[in-house]
Amino acid sequence: MKIEKDYSLRPFNTFGMDVRARTFIEYGSADELRSVLPIAGACLHIGRGSNLLFTRDYNGTVLHSAILGREIVSEQGDEVIVRVGSGELWDDFVQWALSEGLSGVENLSLIPGEVGAAAVQNIGAYGAEVADVVATVEAIELSTGQRRTFANADCHYAYRHSVFKASPIEGEAMRGGIAITHVTFRLSRVFVPRLSYGGLAQAMPPHPTAADVRAAVVRIRQSKLPDPQEQGNAGSFFMNPVLSEQAFALLQERYPNAPSYRQEGGVKVPAGWLIEQCGWKGKRLGRAGVSERQALVLVNLGGATGEDILQLAEAVIADVKATFGITLRPEVNIIGSEKRDACRVGLPS
Ligand code: EPU
Repeated sequence: MKIEKDYSLRPFNTFGMDVRARTFIEYGSADELRSVLPIAGACLHIGRGSNLLFTRDYNGTVLHSAILGREIVSEQGDEVIVRVGSGELWDDFVQWALSEGLSGVENLSLIPGEVGAAAVQNIGAYGAEVADVVATVEAIELSTGQRRTFANADCHYAYRHSVFKASPIEGEAMRGGIAITHVTFRLSRVFVPRLSYGGLAQAMPPHPTAADVRAAVVRIRQSKLPDPQEQGNAGSFFMNPVLSEQAFALLQERYPNAPSYRQEGGVKVPAGWLIEQCGWKGKRLGRAGVSERQALVLVNLGGATGEDILQLAEAVIADVKATFGITLRPEVNIIGSEKRDACRVGLPS
C-alpha cells in the first residue's frame, strides 16, 4: 500500500494538469482499502484520470486501486465469466481476452483508463458499451467498509452513466460512495461481429475475426483522437445530445445533412458536428483548444489550467446553444469547481 502526502496527480490525469492531492492512497486489495477507510476522510476515487478535469488541488484523500489480476472463473457452453481487478488497464484486459480466445470487448479496444472506472463510466465506442458485458461489480462501501456485489441490472447503466457515477439524479447515484474492487465480465468463445458503426464494416476483410475488429478500431482511434502523451485531453469532452423527433425535424429543416443516429427515446446528433458547424474545430482560447482532428475533444495546448479548459468549454456550450438551441453536457467529470455543481464529484465538504 502507498500513502503519500501532498502528492502530484499529474500522472493520474490525461489532461496533464499539475494539481496535488492532500493525501493519496493506493491500495492493492479490498482488505488494504478497508484498513485505511477510518483515516481517509473525504475521498475522491480515481482511475487513470482519462475522463477527469481537475480545476484545482484536491484538499482531501484521493484513492486509487492497484488491484490487479485477470482470471477465468467459469465456463458454460460458449459463455465464459472472467474476473478482473479494478486497477488493471482496460486495454491490457481487452488484449488478454483476445489472447484467451474470448470476444465481447474488441470494439472497446484502446480506450484509455482502468477496469474499475470503465464500469463506473460505462465506456462505449464503435457500437458497444461495457454495460453489454458486465456480469457483476464487486465493491466496498466507503462509509461502512462493507462488501457489496451489484448485478448488471443494479448498475442502472445508461449512455456514459451508472449508479456509481456522482450525479445530480436524486436517490439513484452513489455519489462516489463506493470503491470498485473487481468486475466480472460475460464473454464468449464465439465471435459475433458488431460492425454497425460506419467506418468499421468498411475496414473489415471478408471473414473478419475479433482480432480484425481490434486492429480496425485501433487504427480509427489513432487517426481520430489526439494522443494524450502529445496533447493533454480526456477524449470526448461532451456527450452527444439526444433530441426528440420534433426537435430533430426542426434541425433537419435548417441542416438537411445533419448526421444522426436513431435510437430508443430520440435521435442522437454528434456533438462534434454541432461544434464544427459553429467554427470551433481547431480553434484555441488561450492555452486550451478544440482538437483539429475531432471537435468533441478539448485539448491542453501546453500549460493550460482546468479553468482554461472550462472557459473554452463554456464558450463552446454558449455558441452551440445560440446556434442550435441545444445544450451540450460535459462527459468528463469536472473536479473542484464550485460554480459547476452538476458536474462536481466527491468533493470534501
Ligand atoms: N463529426 C464532425 N466533426 C467532428 C467530429 C465528428 O462532423 O469534428 C461528426 C461526423 O459526422 C462523424 C460523427 O460526428 O461521422 C461521429 O463522430 P465519431 O465517429 O468520431 O464519434 P463521436 O460521436 O464524436 C463517440 C464517442 C467516442 C467514441 C466514438 C466512436 C461520445 C461522447 N463519444 O464519438 O467516445 O470513440 O463515438 O464510437 O459518445 C469518449 O467517450 O471519450 C470517446 C472518445
